Amino acid sequence: MEFLADPFAVLRALPGDTPIFYAPSIDYYVVTRYADIEAVFLDPETYSAATAQLPLAQLVPEAVQILLGGGHKPQPSMVSLDPPAHTRLRSPTARAFTPRRVAQMEPKIRRTVDQLLNAVAPLASFDLVSGLAFPLPATIIFSFVGIPERDWPQLKEWCGHRAALAWGRPAPEEQVHHATNMAAYRSYLRELVATKVGARDDDFASALLAIHDEDPEALTHEEISSILYSLTFAGHETTTYLIGNAVRRLLEDPARWDSVVADPKLIPGAVLETLRYDPSVPVWRRVTKRPVTLGGFHLPEGAKLFLWLAASGRDASVFSEPEKFDLERTNATKTLAFGKGIHYCLGAALGKLEAEIALEGLTRRFPRLRLVDGQPLSFHANISFRGPQALWVHAAP
Ligand code: HEM
Repeated sequence: MEFLADPFAVLRALPGDTPIFYAPSIDYYVVTRYADIEAVFLDPETYSAATAQLPLAQLVPEAVQILLGGGHKPQPSMVSLDPPAHTRLRSPTARAFTPRRVAQMEPKIRRTVDQLLNAVAPLASFDLVSGLAFPLPATIIFSFVGIPERDWPQLKEWCGHRAALAWGRPAPEEQVHHATNMAAYRSYLRELVATKVGARDDDFASALLAIHDEDPEALTHEEISSILYSLTFAGHETTTYLIGNAVRRLLEDPARWDSVVADPKLIPGAVLETLRYDPSVPVWRRVTKRPVTLGGFHLPEGAKLFLWLAASGRDASVFSEPEKFDLERTNATKTLAFGKGIHYCLGAALGKLEAEIALEGLTRRFPRLRLVDGQPLSFHANISFRGPQALWVHAAP
């Protein structure tokens, strides 16, 4: 709980030089230094991605049975797979997730930001997360993929179960509940693919089906549903939290907000600095395939690694004055917030674009936006997706 509330306080409390340490409570080796995390990402031969979505807590047999019955394997999608299985899924995804399709989303992102901000009462305080940061990425990714709008709330709910099961530490009865929902989520995606076969559209699911038509063996329907499983999750919570963290960090010191209002060209830098200073994916995972020495620390084969991306953003050997949120930092692009190497986030450009357009809309519409004083912030109970669950703001007159 202490870690969820303020992971950076936990980081600061570590003894002077602690590049890697073993955390028995979770049975993971925690890696904190930028250079070590980068080396892990760049060496998939030694470091497998198999732990990326592995439940942090040991699952009870009933939950395991429900998951297996629903066709949900321990390495359920591309982010947990190593080559060549990874390449089989990543290549068609990259082919269908073209820069043209991302660019086409820009007008829709602008329209959606406008519509959502139109719905906000200008003189009352409002929750930025439920008003903008939550609905924006969901609208964009679900319509991009081709999910019917009536199913969006259900999908969002399933994603909450997924985050809790793989990255939280739920009690046994909660595990069963989450697993039941995960099985329903996967079965929904399989049915969606089957329906789309006869009802194509200009969407991502149909683009994947077109690749399947070229060579059915190279990309099966089951693999398409696995890719949809990746995108329907990776495409929103990450971005909801990025927007929430960005607005929080800008308003924490109103002078920062005022600078961005005065000069909107600072917005892309503000988004990158948020990713460095307070990333929405603060932790990612790997496991060693052989004994290896990392940063002078000996790791056995099968060592599970907790790559603390948030700590890498505070590494003074890469980022000068790392505790300072600096809108004009010149090397914030070096952030490891999107990973690196063969699994580098496929949605990085889209996520940044959504956050930039959200900040443009907000600063233009509410130049005197302020945080509601004294509000306690709360965070979803998991290690890998972090941003305020609600962020109350008001537009000062
Ligand atoms: C904006 C905030 C986002 C952050 C901070 C983020 C972060 C990450 C991270 C840390 C990884 C793992 C990288 C690795 O293992 O090396 C990843 C992978 C991935 N992300 Fe994102 N992501 C974001 C947005 C998105 C969006 C909007 C999408 C979809 C449209 C997306 C789709 C994916 C996919 C499909 C992968 C798996 C790639 C692979 O395994 O080859 N992400 N992301």
